[in-house]
Amino acid sequence: MNDLDQLLADAQADFQAATTPADLENAKARYLGKAGRLTELLKGLAALPHEAKKTRGAQINAAKQQVEAALQARRQALADAELEAQLQAESLDVTLPGRQRGTGGLHPVSRTMERIEAIFGSMGFEVADGPEIETDWYSFTALNNPENHPARSMQDTFYVDLKDAEGRWLNLRPHTSPMQVRHARAHAARYAGVDPMPEIRVIAPGRTYRVDSDATHSPMFHQCEGLWIGENVSFKDLKSVFLDFFRRFFETEALQLRFRPSFFPFTEPSAEVDIAFDSGPLKGRWLEVAGSGQVHPNVVRNFGLDPERHIGFAFGMGPDRLTMLRYGVNDLRLFFDGDLRFLSQFR
Ligand code: PHE
Repeated sequence: MNDLDQLLADAQADFQAATTPADLENAKARYLGKAGRLTELLKGLAALPHEAKKTRGAQINAAKQQVEAALQARRQALADAELEAQLQAESLDVTLPGRQRGTGGLHPVSRTMERIEAIFGSMGFEVADGPEIETDWYSFTALNNPENHPARSMQDTFYVDLKDAEGRWLNLRPHTSPMQVRHARAHAARYAGVDPMPEIRVIAPGRTYRVDSDATHSPMFHQCEGLWIGENVSFKDLKSVFLDFFRRFFETEALQLRFRPSFFPFTEPSAEVDIAFDSGPLKGRWLEVAGSGQVHPNVVRNFGLDPERHIGFAFGMGPDRLTMLRYGVNDLRLFFDGDLRFLSQFR
């Protein structure tokens, strides 16, 4: 093998050994660069006699072309390999199963809320929605629950680091009863001078807050408050509304209702409402489902109405508890943990 054949073989081996474009450029410099082996050989021509210079020059140029061709081939091979690797890395496996979009569903408590709204709606009740952050007056004082009254501890709630116009801390409403007041005041203002005033029949479903947490109490829970005010509304109407509601809610006529005397600042007289099923797993057990009572004259006054003329009842029930009873769930916290294994059962 002559020196040029050897040089070509060396160049091919070096180019082959280069695995990156940068390596390859370094290898190229060793042959074709300013101080490269071929360049040195060409410089050496100057010392040769005329004839020898011609033949040797042609040989070196031929070798140079071969080195350049080998370099070009290796460049192409490295570029091809890189493209191939990239394609491999980004390849799509069209045989993989597609990513499916899961079907969602309503939260069980939302289902209960919708049921409550539909049933009361059919009995002529409007639905009122209002703020969850309330002033002291709407959450307590307007409801005949004065500052420092011990009954406030029944509805101990959370406070917001902001004060209202009267300098009292804003609170997270401990019940939806403030909506009674908001709705009734708006109603009274709207029908001022209309005689007789159309009845107030409204429910206020929504989120409520209390300092409470165990298997049957959560710091955030739901309430549905109801209010019916007219000139001739009595406990008899309350009882028929409740009986009708609970029978339709639980889809059974085999259900008893009882009022148990109780205390709420905003109603007088007041009663807890219990129901009992005539059959099923809960048969014969009295279950507390609501608080209720005739709206206290002070509260009617705060509605902007005359308690000598406008009377009626209010009630508050817990949609979370109704959901537990309806579906046989025994831990309230399951509703708020967000565990899909639990929630998907209600789809
Ligand atoms: N707001 C009361 C509570 O949260 C429930 C209630 C409402 C009782 C209306 C009577 C009348 O305890």
